[in-house]
Amino acid sequence: DDPADLVPRSPVVTVMGHVDHGKTSLLDAIRKTHVTTQEAGGITQHIGAYQVVNQGRKIVFLDTPGHEAFTAMRARGAQVTDIAILVVAADDGVMPQTIEAINHAKSAKVPIIVAVNKMDREGANPDRVKQQLSDHGLVPEDWGGDTIMVPVSAHKKTGITELLEMIGLIAEMQELKANPNRSAQGTIVEAQLDKGRGPVATVLIQNGTLQIGDSIIAGTAYGKVRAMVNDRGEKVKKAGPSTPVEVLGLADVPAAGDVLLAVDEKTARAVAEKRIAKKRTEEMAHSQKVSLDDLFKQIQEGNIKDLNIVVKADVQGSIEALRQALLNLNNNKEVRVNIVHAGVGAINESDVMLSSAANALIIGFNVRPDANARKLAETEKIDIRTYRVIYEAINDVEAAMTGMLA
Ligand code: GTP
Ligand code: NA
Ligand code: MG
Repeated sequence: DDPADLVPRSPVVTVMGHVDHGKTSLLDAIRKTHVTTQEAGGITQHIGAYQVVNQGRKIVFLDTPGHEAFTAMRARGAQVTDIAILVVAADDGVMPQTIEAINHAKSAKVPIIVAVNKMDREGANPDRVKQQLSDHGLVPEDWGGDTIMVPVSAHKKTGITELLEMIGLIAEMQELKANPNRSAQGTIVEAQLDKGRGPVATVLIQNGTLQIGDSIIAGTAYGKVRAMVNDRGEKVKKAGPSTPVEVLGLADVPAAGDVLLAVDEKTARAVAEKRIAKKRTEEMAHSQKVSLDDLFKQIQEGNIKDLNIVVKADVQGSIEALRQALLNLNNNKEVRVNIVHAGVGAINESDVMLSSAANALIIGFNVRPDANARKLAETEKIDIRTYRVIYEAINDVEAAMTGMLA
């Protein structure tokens, strides 16, 4: 981009931290809305993306989940962000996902602002939080360090103005710029297959402007922008830099983290076809290496113990989170989880046939089997389990692994 084309853009702020430390509640307080109450199990399952206007200036917020199953999503959040808000509950203090969030932000070289939340709680101990954070290299300003720490209460809505001020200050120093007059470039925050609307991708536009009718490519998915919906559910005709927007019109579901580019139609199709071909080759090479038939025989002969699983989910982000958490179960256990297939969408016949061949159980997250799949599963005696909360799925699998050892 020619420097003359660059104009100021809004900061993208990612809210990170340990599970239940109040990330979504803090965003609710900032937006004065009530997203937390609609979440299954009170746990943030996807990255939410919101635009907030503070004193005439826009800030884009990305919410991330705190549960240990979501490492991949926190890493991605840190990568697309200009500033990280690290939420630490004043009563609970620094916990494993707090440390993990610090590491993600550090490795992405993103400045961290700490929000010490739940200051209204009786057990609140901000000094202990400061000490714990100092031990992890975040020394507060009032202790001679350079980390901004703002005491807040999402419930009492205290400290919110100060927090927004600090975000504004840091963003001002960053002199963030983009060129709205070029073809769009962005990142897929989450994507899912919607029954009525087809593939729906939440995209953070980072440079350029995306418009209705633009040809786009994201990972192996390509298409033409048919409609766009902003974070308030309003239809929009274009989306400029630092705007989160739902994009309709892709022919396939891209993966979270994929780069989205607006390019001419011919290029979009050619690049997508090339990527799809490459992916197929890789998958074939992989399946030959694994050879499920062989593996199954070996399990029966008692040579190895594997728990084969087919994973289906509503969005790519959940698949990645499930995959990560399931593979984490493999540490120090004799039985190993083996994910034979993972994909976005309802559980279908081909999933059941694959599970039958691989002696796998099927885990559906926010998806159900269709009628044919259910019928086939009955005759093939395939175990289909559906969940709406990821850790419940993980707990069940862990129990199954232990049971197999017994
Ligand atoms: P995950 O997305 O599941 O990682 O959680 P989160 O960090 O988004 O936390 P969430 O906003 O879901 O809040 C967790 C719990 O803490 C809820 O019961 C909230 O009502 C409560 N909580 C959040 N902020 C505050 C606060 O400032 N004060 C008090 N007392 N409770 C709070
Ligand atoms: Na929560
Ligand atoms: Mg949350």
